[in-house]
Amino acid sequence: MNNIKEVAVIGLGYIGLPTAAILASKGITVKGVDVTPRTVEAVNKGEVPFVEPALGEFVSAAVAAGTLSASFDTPEAEAYIVAVPTPFNDDYTADLSYIEAAADGIAPKLKGGELVILESTSPPGATQHLFDYLLAKRPDLNKDSLLVAHCPERVLPGYVMEELVTNDRIVGGITPGSSRQSQGSLRDFLPGSDPHHRRDDCRNGKAGGELVPRRQYRLR
Ligand SMILES: NC(=O)c1ccc[n+]([C@@H]2O[C@H](COP(=O)([O-])OP(=O)(O)OC[C@H]3O[C@@H](n4cnc5c(N)ncnc54)[C@H](O)[C@@H]3O)[C@@H](O)[C@H]2O)c1
Repeated sequence: MNNIKEVAVIGLGYIGLPTAAILASKGITVKGVDVTPRTVEAVNKGEVPFVEPALGEFVSAAVAAGTLSASFDTPEAEAYIVAVPTPFNDDYTADLSYIEAAADGIAPKLKGGELVILESTSPPGATQHLFDYLLAKRPDLNKDSLLVAHCPERVLPGYVMEELVTNDRIVGGITPGSSRQSQGSLRDFLPGSDPHHRRDDCRNGKAGGELVPRRQYRLR
């Protein structure tokens, strides 16, 4: 993430942990946050509490290198990635209480200027709700100092470590500034189908290899 050295990832599940591990593999200090003791304990041992190809190697390497750790408490960070569940309520509306709980942890840590990127699958209005919710807790901030954006994740289980890096992304911010900042920050490490992206970047953590057209990926 351009010039960002410390990221907190809230929710270390199928989306949050791979995201945390990829960012950590690029040298960013990533502090993961989860409410589930089994998850926090596993990550701090360099282990993964579920099955996803290639994720284990990334997590164990990042924990050994000291770039990835997990805790129950939200730390101070320059950027926050929110990847908590967004299940349906009984009336088929989305339950945003997990996003609000994540915001409860983030709000007291904000100094102004941080990015908060919602990656959870969310209905229209959820990003605005997150912004309003944070602002209600931190009325000293405003839309210039609280940079909230949505970047929905669309990866397929089983291909997450590839698709996190190679899928094109949609990023939308509360303001043009938060859109630009989020887009610029994500592009460095999760470049989508940028023609300069090489397949080896994701699998081996180093440049090289051949360019892989998107269609070829889909047909594998
Ligand atoms: N899994 C997928 O394939 C996939 C694909 C695209 C989008 N999504 C979306 O990504 C979001 C996350 O999904 P997932 O599959 O990673 O869910 P998950 O259940 O695997 O992980 C969510 C994690 O968040 C933790 N959590 C819950 N409340 C928390 C809180 N207040 N603070 C910190 N951690 C908390 C849980 O303990 C869990 O470890 C959802 O909105 C989902 O719809 C998932």
